[in-house]
Amino acid sequence: MVKDPVCGMEIDENKAKHKTQHGGETYYFCASACKETFEKNPEKYLNRSNGDDFDARKVAIVGTGQVGSTFAFALMITGLSSSIVLIDQAAERAEGHAMDLNHSLPFVPPCRISAGDYSDCRGASIVVITAGASQKPGETRLELVRRNTDIFKQIIPEIVKHNPGMLVIVSNPVDILTYVALKVSGYSMNRIIGSGTVLDSARFRSLLGKHCRVDPRNVHAYIIGEHGDSEVPVWSQVKIGGISFLDYCSMYLRDVSEKERDEIFNEVKRAAYEIIKRKGATNFAIGLSLVRIAESILRDENSVLTVSTLLDDYYDIGDVCLSVPVILNRNGVAKTLKIGLDQSELASLRASAKVLKNVIKGLDI
Ligand SMILES: NC(=O)c1ccc[n+]([C@@H]2O[C@H](COP(=O)([O-])OP(=O)(O)OC[C@H]3O[C@@H](n4cnc5c(N)ncnc54)[C@H](O)[C@@H]3O)[C@@H](O)[C@H]2O)c1
Repeated sequence: MVKDPVCGMEIDENKAKHKTQHGGETYYFCASACKETFEKNPEKYLNRSNGDDFDARKVAIVGTGQVGSTFAFALMITGLSSSIVLIDQAAERAEGHAMDLNHSLPFVPPCRISAGDYSDCRGASIVVITAGASQKPGETRLELVRRNTDIFKQIIPEIVKHNPGMLVIVSNPVDILTYVALKVSGYSMNRIIGSGTVLDSARFRSLLGKHCRVDPRNVHAYIIGEHGDSEVPVWSQVKIGGISFLDYCSMYLRDVSEKERDEIFNEVKRAAYEIIKRKGATNFAIGLSLVRIAESILRDENSVLTVSTLLDDYYDIGDVCLSVPVILNRNGVAKTLKIGLDQSELASLRASAKVLKNVIKGLDI
């Protein structure tokens, strides 16, 4: 077995259909897209994790507002990262956060924390992008799209010039901006990840855990599709300790009505609006969602998370970024998982993809 140098997938070289020669060596690929990406700039992929300056535990954060700074704080506490660099167009804000975080170092595992500029993305394993305009009260995520697309067209080339390992997009509308980042960066699809519905799935699990009076860590449940108004709860796959949600309720609580299920999902879907109405931003749960994504990448965990990724023939859906369960490891998205969906869930996922594709059509990228 050998590794595809672009996406990191393990492949059998005897069966590989896609291969190329470079520097007297043969390289094997899982798909023609990876082969073409490699051939455009082989050095980029061969040096990616071997360069002297590559630090597998370095994380750069672009945008140090509510979300970026909360993520930096949470990441520092976990000890997952050896080095955190904070970058913001408001340079003083990044510096202030770096100073404050540095004063926390006697209480947490060792970590280098500094403010920097885009050149500090060099050698980083992950660059998390939370830069951009945030949602105003009452504003839908899709309404933010033009403002943040323009910001991304400006900052993504500045970041990828320094060849970091992968980009995690958080700024909203996250699925659209993940697609924009993919197109603008020229990176392979496994290296561009949107935080997607990791947060929504956490909200869903938290509310289901509360309803069932069960630790939410023992609730398996996914929100898929757009991180936004067209997102889809996969009720058919909700499991509480291995028991389906409906059975669990009938056996240990009481039958759950469709109205109650709608209420739970609406609370998930409305969460950002309700929190922003009260405190102006969401930061804690997204901060920890980003720690969970970073953990899976930095520790090569192969965790299943609903991140936003480019779909290719997923239930006939393609050329759009949205969230489905994926296997996430140090190479980014290793596999998308085809979760079982009932007829109405599948119809809703297709509708969600359509909403996003219509927005993409109107963008100048
Ligand atoms: N995907 C999710 O689940 C999720 C959750 C919460 C927030 N968000 C999104 O994350 C983004 C950030 O939210 P926030 O509350 O932290 O906003 P914020 O306004 O507090 O912070 C944004 C930061 O980005 C910086 N910035 C703006 N343009 C920049 C540029 N061109 N280069 C560098 N830095 C730049 C600003 O100076 C500011 O510090 C928003 O788009 C928000 O909608 C996403």
